[in-house]
Amino acid sequence: MLTEDLENLKREICGEIDEIDFSNKKGLADIRVKVFGKAGCLTLLSKGMRDLSPEERPVVGALINEVRNFLEEKISSKEKDFEKQELRERLEKEKIDITEPSREKIGAAHPISNVLDRLTDICVSLGFSVVEGPEIETDYYNFEALNTPKNHPARDMQDTFFINDNILVRSQTSAVQAREMEVRKPPFKIICPGKTYRNDSDSTHSPVFHQLEGLVIDENISMADLKAMLTILMKRLYGEDTTIRFRPSFFPFTEPSIEVDVSCPNCHGKGCQTCKGTGMLELLGAGIVNPKVLEMSGIDSKKYRGFAFGFGLDRTAMILNSINNIRYFYRNDIRFLNQMK
Ligand code: DAH
Repeated sequence: MLTEDLENLKREICGEIDEIDFSNKKGLADIRVKVFGKAGCLTLLSKGMRDLSPEERPVVGALINEVRNFLEEKISSKEKDFEKQELRERLEKEKIDITEPSREKIGAAHPISNVLDRLTDICVSLGFSVVEGPEIETDYYNFEALNTPKNHPARDMQDTFFINDNILVRSQTSAVQAREMEVRKPPFKIICPGKTYRNDSDSTHSPVFHQLEGLVIDENISMADLKAMLTILMKRLYGEDTTIRFRPSFFPFTEPSIEVDVSCPNCHGKGCQTCKGTGMLELLGAGIVNPKVLEMSGIDSKKYRGFAFGFGLDRTAMILNSINNIRYFYRNDIRFLNQMK
């Protein structure tokens, strides 16, 4: 009797499942409950096993299992079909036409971000890794570890904002050099871009500005490596016809120190307003890392040497875009930013 009931049930439910189409998802869920639910027909039939003789029980038990697996499989496969169909319909409905012209106003990168991206690309192509450091810095990393002890006159050039006697907003990205030398194993090549701060304000100086620092530590580094690297960098940034001039200078953390000028990209050396008639533009500071600085950071100065350079991104962006006042960068005037596209 039970065997027959089972066969009938199987046939009947199969028919019902086959008839259900996608528009009736609820119907499929109802069938599941009707068969497998607490008061579902298969559950009830299983309970009927109690009344069977011990000989019949295993035979009917096996049949119940078979019907259960069969129906489970059939319902699940239909559920999966429905899910696929649902996804297809959603994809169809949510299709966007990417060829449609945008009605949004397209923005543009800020000139400083632009210069930073260009320089980063050039440096990464030359094998440098990019590192960032904190803007709120200790006196130690900003000055002392860079061979500029308290009361050193060179501190005057970089008056910044102190939070207390030992904490300040960094006046130079060179602070990141000092941090990285402590943790990296030579040889390495890094650039450290970021915001810097100084108590300065006129048409070419802003209390917040941007620098990019470069540092290479290796054996047998010489001034020739520094000159070659800066020449490549400047030519890639300002154009192949750029000429470069190196002048002796002073920084506490480099020995010897140099300052680097490039031919004015506006007049190509003839003299114009951008270069104040000199044909050249002062661009950056650089030098061979002072052995004292290496030693302070735990690098063996007998074995390793390094060169470093640091320059202002604001100034570079001003030159490249013929902008005569640094404040435009920080005013967020949409008319100015629109011209930068
Ligand atoms: N930190 C210097 C400044 O802000 C620039 C500089 C000079 C960076 C020489 C260097 C360097 O790494 O070697 O004026």
